[in-house]
Amino acid sequence: MFVEVRSSCFPVCHSLGTTWVSYILDLLYFGQTSPERQTSIPIYERVPFMELFIPGFFEGKDLADNLPTTPRLIKTHFPVQFVPKTFWEQNCRVIYVARNGKDNMVSYFHFESMTSTQPETGTWSNYFQRFIQGKMVYGSWYDHVSNWWKKKETYPNLHYMFYEDLIEDTQQEIDKLCSFLGLSPSAELKEMVVSGVQFDKMKNNQMANYSNVPFMDFNISPFMRKGKVGDWKNHFTVAQNEEFDDDYKKKMKDPTLQFRNEI
Ligand code: A3P
Repeated sequence: MFVEVRSSCFPVCHSLGTTWVSYILDLLYFGQTSPERQTSIPIYERVPFMELFIPGFFEGKDLADNLPTTPRLIKTHFPVQFVPKTFWEQNCRVIYVARNGKDNMVSYFHFESMTSTQPETGTWSNYFQRFIQGKMVYGSWYDHVSNWWKKKETYPNLHYMFYEDLIEDTQQEIDKLCSFLGLSPSAELKEMVVSGVQFDKMKNNQMANYSNVPFMDFNISPFMRKGKVGDWKNHFTVAQNEEFDDDYKKKMKDPTLQFRNEI
């Protein structure tokens, strides 16, 4: 996720919680000053998805170029190496949301099944192999989360968050986010943000739940599906879990990057 420094934000990778963080940011910046946004502008227009191009419906780059707000909040799922270099040159604030690989795989599987913008999902067992092999639209999850993590070493204006922490203590994670962004929201605004971004509230909020987009089929799965840590246990077989863990140890060698598969 990019917050422009002049000031734009950036949340980043499918099924990690980018919509959640986009909504948190939108409320923090504009929840009090522009309350009409909450009932009239869907989240995908308030925080455009930079690389998404669906002719006649959504052209992310144009929406981002024409955002009237300051800062501009812009979403991407790009791996770090694909981010246009001007974002780095302009020292944009960047917020990366990471989620444990097992839940990411499950969430992504359901998302790909219900949206016509993604390739055919195939069976769960094929999908499982495809995920492990990194043959995903945005490349390998392992590389995605690791390379963004490394980027922090050379680009201090990057705040790396974990979906699991956000689930465990939303208030605390919002406080950290505010400190990164240099925001000091009133107690009233903080309360409004924390309650407004709870899963059930967002699931029932037509401006946040994507129920009005033509390329998602909610009969297959809602976009706001479960919003939990550990749903992988309902999908992985024992053998798949062992295979994932063995493969994970080989790929994820950096001891400073730790994911929680349960909380
Ligand atoms: P699940 O499929 O596990 O339910 P993204 O926006 O990056 O594509 O991520 C989508 C995932 O974030 C979905 O996960 C969705 O339910 C979850 N999500 C969105 N808003 C949330 C919220 N307010 N609380 C918890 N999870 C949320």
